[in-house]
Amino acid sequence: MADLYDTTYARSLAAPEAFWADAARAIEWDRPWDAVLDETRKPFYRWFRGGKLNTCHNALDRHVAAGLSGRTALIYDSPITGTAARFTYAELLDLVARFAGVLAERGVGRGDRVIIYMPMIPEAVVAMLACARIGAVHSVVFGGFAAHELAVRIDDAAPKAIVAASCGVEPSGIIAYKPLLDRAIEEARHKPSHCILVQRPMATATMVAGRDVDWTAAMERARAVPCVSVDAWDPLYILYTSGTTGRPKGVVRDNGGHAVALKWTMKNVYGVDPGEVFWAASDVGWVVGHSYIVYAPLLNGNTTILFEGKPVGTPDAGVFWRVISEHKVAAMFTAPTAFRAIKRDDPDGRLIRRHDLAGFRTLFLAGERADPDTVMWAQRHLGVPVIDHWWQTETGWAIAANCVGLGMQPIRPGSPTKAVPGWDLRVLDDTGAAVPRGQIGALVAKLPLPPGTLPTLWNAEDRFREAYLAEHPGYYKTADAGYIDGDGYVYVMARTDDIINTAGHRLSTGAMEEVLAGHPDVAECAVIGVGDEIKGQVPVGFLVLKAGVARPHATIAGEVVDMVRTSIGPVASFKTAMVVKRLPKTRSGKILRGTMRQIADSEAYRMPATIDDPAILDEIRLALKDVGYAKATGRPAAE
Ligand code: COA
Ligand code: AMP
Repeated sequence: MADLYDTTYARSLAAPEAFWADAARAIEWDRPWDAVLDETRKPFYRWFRGGKLNTCHNALDRHVAAGLSGRTALIYDSPITGTAARFTYAELLDLVARFAGVLAERGVGRGDRVIIYMPMIPEAVVAMLACARIGAVHSVVFGGFAAHELAVRIDDAAPKAIVAASCGVEPSGIIAYKPLLDRAIEEARHKPSHCILVQRPMATATMVAGRDVDWTAAMERARAVPCVSVDAWDPLYILYTSGTTGRPKGVVRDNGGHAVALKWTMKNVYGVDPGEVFWAASDVGWVVGHSYIVYAPLLNGNTTILFEGKPVGTPDAGVFWRVISEHKVAAMFTAPTAFRAIKRDDPDGRLIRRHDLAGFRTLFLAGERADPDTVMWAQRHLGVPVIDHWWQTETGWAIAANCVGLGMQPIRPGSPTKAVPGWDLRVLDDTGAAVPRGQIGALVAKLPLPPGTLPTLWNAEDRFREAYLAEHPGYYKTADAGYIDGDGYVYVMARTDDIINTAGHRLSTGAMEEVLAGHPDVAECAVIGVGDEIKGQVPVGFLVLKAGVARPHATIAGEVVDMVRTSIGPVASFKTAMVVKRLPKTRSGKILRGTMRQIADSEAYRMPATIDDPAILDEIRLALKDVGYAKATGRPAAE
């Protein structure tokens, strides 16, 4: 069946406009497009110029109109609170239309921004779709971010309203969100006019008179509103993701291309038909949650699962199998980290065998490199294909995957298989020349990118051009390094910038360095990502103190750990910092972070020819050894 993939892929590159016009027919448009691809502002390309549609209509109303009102749209399964609920398409539509009314009544309309700061509860999905319904632009902020990160996003997006919940529930306990929200609004220069708050019984929040509105009370009085027809190019959402500094990038997603591409992926990439149950065990705060908990499954008429829990500890490493068998999940999507945690707690897969997984067909992994051990373990114990696929917040859907709906290719653990139709992937060297097959270089995609990918960054077109388009003219820079082998299999090896991947979450070490540098005793610092058995990578900080500072090193290290937690958030998993006398540098003053990481991970490294003082590396090694890293010598590789 491999030829279906080959012919589809070839057609997508040879005739992209015809290819995506065909895919666009699966979406209901209020007005057809004038041009499939707009090339008038190269290198900024746009899809479906002049088309009008509504994403919420395509996700809900059209299915109800087609007689599917009784089909389950959303299953909320929350082992962490011991609750569950099901919503049919008609029920979800009713909630969304009424919450859209709540927003509209408060003056939120087309183009206005709404920040959503919520845990994994159904109201988060309702709020996202309600924004789409009235043409407002949502920006979901992950609950594990601290008040400062929320404040930065409030200032950038300038929302008219914020929708939040009183608390989240984590294995460590109840996390009160409202104090974080209040602090963020206090810190931000921009002030939203309204905050609509879901009061959860585990921790009710104090309301600010005149600004805060209770979700339940507002919904009781709300009037349902219809969908607003928006332009294909109107933004559907902004999702902030880590850049190389403390200033996150506001990735913009438009309505038209997004709906077309996501609907297309459900059958072609995931092999899932309307009516089947699809489960992405992620969070609505990440792109996977946007695309594959909310939009794609609903656009395709699937049942989607909103899971409020963890792969282990809620209550045990068997919870994924319980959910799959209880809700008859056909395909699941999660991060390799989740499987590493399950494998640690249930190495022989005993809990897997307690459940009937007969209807489960495919497991998809993404968000970080899927190590072959994890892929093989999952495949052995589940007895289904385990498909690694590679994508980014910016792309919104997979760049490389084993496209199940186009005939599965042989799985090669360590590779997310081949470029997905629409993606013209290349590997370039530093000079911009193509490297031979099998050789590592920068992974780039030839422009135009397919529909559904980022058209720009929010209020920052120059930054968009600079970050993604400038280095290799005519190509999109993924900032991942890797290679493509002779058979077209893609291998994604490492980021080329200072982004690290912790438990499938993308974090900027540069942003953490900015926080560390703000400590009054710190003269210089560096943060690197070091290997972690479960989370893939975790950040580790190095501090050089100002002359004359005599306070205990452990105290200062503890203080910077707290600073990262309160400034960026617990999601950073920043737990280790150490004081060193100096940082290793090149003679021109560049910190040798790569070499430090190799030492931490006990890898053989090449002594950098330009190193200022090689003796510093021994000091770094000893400091790392004290905290459990650099276990082997990691001697320099022979030249
Ligand atoms: N709200 C508030 N705090 C949150 C949060 C949220 N939504 N999500 C995470 N946190 C906190 C956690 O409580 C934890 O805090 P702690 O340091 O006080 O314990 C911290 O952020 C780190 O969380 P996490 O990365 O989830 O680590 P963990 O040690 O609690 O759990 C795993 C480890 C492997 C179970 C967990 O990382 C996991 O489920 N990973 C899968 C990741 C995933 O699905 N990614 C989506 C991409 S597809
Ligand atoms: P995010 O934007 O949070 O989705 O993170 C995107 C980054 O995660 C990519 O640029 C890669 O570095 C990494 N990533 C995602 N999926 C994979 C994968 N399947 N294999 C290797 N790296 C991946």
